[in-house]
Amino acid sequence: MSLRLTYYGHATMGLLADGVRLVVDPFFAPDNPVASVGVEAVEADFILQTHGHGDHIAHTAALAKRTGATVICTPEIAGWLGKQGVKHTAGMNLGGAHSFAFGRVKMTIAHHSSGLPDGSYGGNPAGFLIHFNDGLDFYIAGDTALTYDMRLIGEAGGVDYALLPIGNNYTMGPDDAVTAAQFVQAKHVIPVHYNTWPVIAQDGEAFAERLRRVAEIDCTVMRPGDTLDI
Ligand code: NI
Ligand code: MN
Repeated sequence: MSLRLTYYGHATMGLLADGVRLVVDPFFAPDNPVASVGVEAVEADFILQTHGHGDHIAHTAALAKRTGATVICTPEIAGWLGKQGVKHTAGMNLGGAHSFAFGRVKMTIAHHSSGLPDGSYGGNPAGFLIHFNDGLDFYIAGDTALTYDMRLIGEAGGVDYALLPIGNNYTMGPDDAVTAAQFVQAKHVIPVHYNTWPVIAQDGEAFAERLRRVAEIDCTVMRPGDTLDI
């Protein structure tokens, strides 16, 4: 099993899975005030796009066009990216699963919104459940409120890693994220979508400590630029 995570800040994550390069929600410097690098420093084979908000899609077209990466997203976002010259998209919708080179991806429910930066309709916001080829189960919640539907993921066997937003205001906050981690039966949690701007300031270490104490779930707090080998 070989998976390397690189946290770029906010909700942007790189996943290197047995040589296949995935990028989640491309939002890099300088638009992303906490990002460790600019989009030009990043390579990708696949891009996982949770929804259409600017803090997730700012650099998707640029990254996809330069690298030829396939963007996995809603059909509405796929159409929008196509108009900007992105050649390879894989449109999915909630509840659907599809196999890619790195593993099987299921698009999951996220309670949020998904307008695109120019006002276009982006379809439903989403998260992703990934079953990597080597067996690791990964849940990327996307921007979402706590939802009772997350229990279905736990009842289906849970996940090894969950990327959960904790920033509050735009998404669930730390208290609800502890419940979300329990609902999906995560073995490990990585908090995202916080400390990018003052309105989503949170104490990542306090969240991690609480998750360990209340739910006995392991938590890794990553700073922008950090990598984690699983
Ligand atoms: Ni959003
Ligand atoms: Mn967001």
